Amino acid sequence: MRQLRDGFRLRHVQDPTTDLALRNFSTGSDRHAQAVNELIGRQVTGEARHKARVVVMEQDDPLGETLGVAAWRTERLPGTNPSLPDVYIHALGRSEQFCAHLLPDGRSVGHALLAETLIDIARISGRASMPLVWAYVARTNHKGHRLYDSFDFHHRRLRGGKRFTYLPRWVFPVRGDAIRFLPAHPLARC
Ligand SMILES: CC(C)(COP(=O)(O)OP(=O)(O)OC[C@H]1O[C@@H](n2cnc3c(N)ncnc32)[C@H](O)[C@@H]1OP(=O)(O)O)[C@@H](O)C(=O)NCCC(=O)NCCS
Repeated sequence: MRQLRDGFRLRHVQDPTTDLALRNFSTGSDRHAQAVNELIGRQVTGEARHKARVVVMEQDDPLGETLGVAAWRTERLPGTNPSLPDVYIHALGRSEQFCAHLLPDGRSVGHALLAETLIDIARISGRASMPLVWAYVARTNHKGHRLYDSFDFHHRRLRGGKRFTYLPRWVFPVRGDAIRFLPAHPLARC
């Protein structure tokens, strides 16, 4: 693991179609990374079916190099109470060049990115409780599963072979892919 000297800041992307950080973003080249690249790419080209809130985590120095990108939107987890606005993290990836890097506080970039995304969700939701947050993770995406494991996300296995309407049309779930979700819970107030 390589150690980074600088901390980070989170930036909300006002217009994904003109944001240079998004245009140049890549989280890697394996199948899972490519799916995330594609999802972010569609926000950039404006082809995305769903508008998302996109956040960029960047180094807290004058260059502000992109450490990672996450995108989320309100979307009900199938089978849950429709009156509650669940949140779906539909893309999350740390930048390829920061693979296996630790921040000065000892967290990996991906770990900090998910933590910051959850804080962003809590802040924007503006409620006394955290909404249910969920994500779709392919069976073979071990790094993705490890990340959600470390935040105690629950695991719901998908049967596969069926279209899952909340995914992009070009993603076909297979047996063993999973929904990872963190149930709604009250927020601690200080
Ligand atoms: C999932 C993801 C965000 C995790 O990011 P991350 O926590 O920064 O970890 P990295 O992927 O950079 O980890 C690289 C290596 O460092 C190791 N590592 C991570 N955190 C560590 C820590 N705190 N201490 C020691 N090693 C650590 C990992 O085990 C991994 O080793 P491996 O390649 O041998 O498996 C990242 O892998 C990613 O962006 N993947 C592509 C997109 C994706 O799959 N997104 C999730 C789907 S929703």
